[in-house]
Amino acid sequence: MRIPDITIAIDGYSSTGKSTLAKLIATHFDFLYLDSGAMYRGVTLFAQEQGLISPDNVIDPALEAALEGLDLHFAPGTVLYMGDRSIEKEIRTMEVSSQVSPIAAVPYVRSWVDARLHAFSEAGRVVMDGRDIGTTVFPDAEIKIFMTARPEVRAQRRFDELVSKGENPVFEEVMKNLQERDYIDSHRETSPLRRAEDAFELNNSEMGLTEEIAWAEGLIRGKFGLLNAPEEL
Ligand code: DC
Repeated sequence: MRIPDITIAIDGYSSTGKSTLAKLIATHFDFLYLDSGAMYRGVTLFAQEQGLISPDNVIDPALEAALEGLDLHFAPGTVLYMGDRSIEKEIRTMEVSSQVSPIAAVPYVRSWVDARLHAFSEAGRVVMDGRDIGTTVFPDAEIKIFMTARPEVRAQRRFDELVSKGENPVFEEVMKNLQERDYIDSHRETSPLRRAEDAFELNNSEMGLTEEIAWAEGLIRGKFGLLNAPEEL
C-alpha cells in the first residue's frame, strides 16, 4: 500500500527551507510539488516588466485587467514559465524579492493565483508550499506543516542561495528584505501568514536535511497508522 492521494500544505516564514522540504517529500513519496511563492514572484516580474509597479511599490490598478492576459505555468515540473519563456532565474533575484510582498498583499492578485493553484492541483497528490496554503488555499489539507527557523539562519541560507546563483548580495540587505517580507506577509489583511491550528510546527534551525525528511516521514506514517509498517510506504 502506498500513502493515499492527499494534499500536503507547507507554510512558514521566508527562507525556512519550505521548498527544500516540499521537494524532498515530492520525490520521496511521488507527489506533485507546487511552489505558490513562484506564482507571486511571476506576477511581480510581470508587473515590473509592464511598468505597473513603481520603485516605491505603488501598484497601478490596471494590473487587475492585465492579469487576464497573463499565462504563468510550471513546465516541466517546477520551472515557472511566462507564456513560452522560462522565468525561473528572474523571479529569484533581489529585484523581484524586494517587491513581491506588496504585490502578494493585493486581494485580486491572491484570487488570481489561488484559482491557478487549484487548477494545477486538480489531479490531487500535491505538496504545495507558501504562506496561506493550510489556512486559505487548502484548509482541508490532510497534512499541514508550519516551518520556522532563527532569522540569522534564514538570512544566511538565502545569502548562500543568491551567491550560488551568481548574485553579489549584501548580508544586511538580505536580512532586511527577509524581515520586511515577514512583516508584510504576516500583517496584510487578506490571508496573512499564520500557523493553521492543525499544523505541525517544524523549527529546523539546527536540523539537517536527513533529519527533516525523517521527521516528515514520521508525521506521514503516523497520520496513516503506518508506524509499524515501514515497508508499506
Ligand atoms: O516563498 P517565497 O519567498 O518564494 O514567496 C515569495 C513571496 O510571495 C512572499 O514574500 C510572500 C508571497 N507568498 C504569499 O503571500 N502567499 C503564498 N502562498 C506564497 C508566497
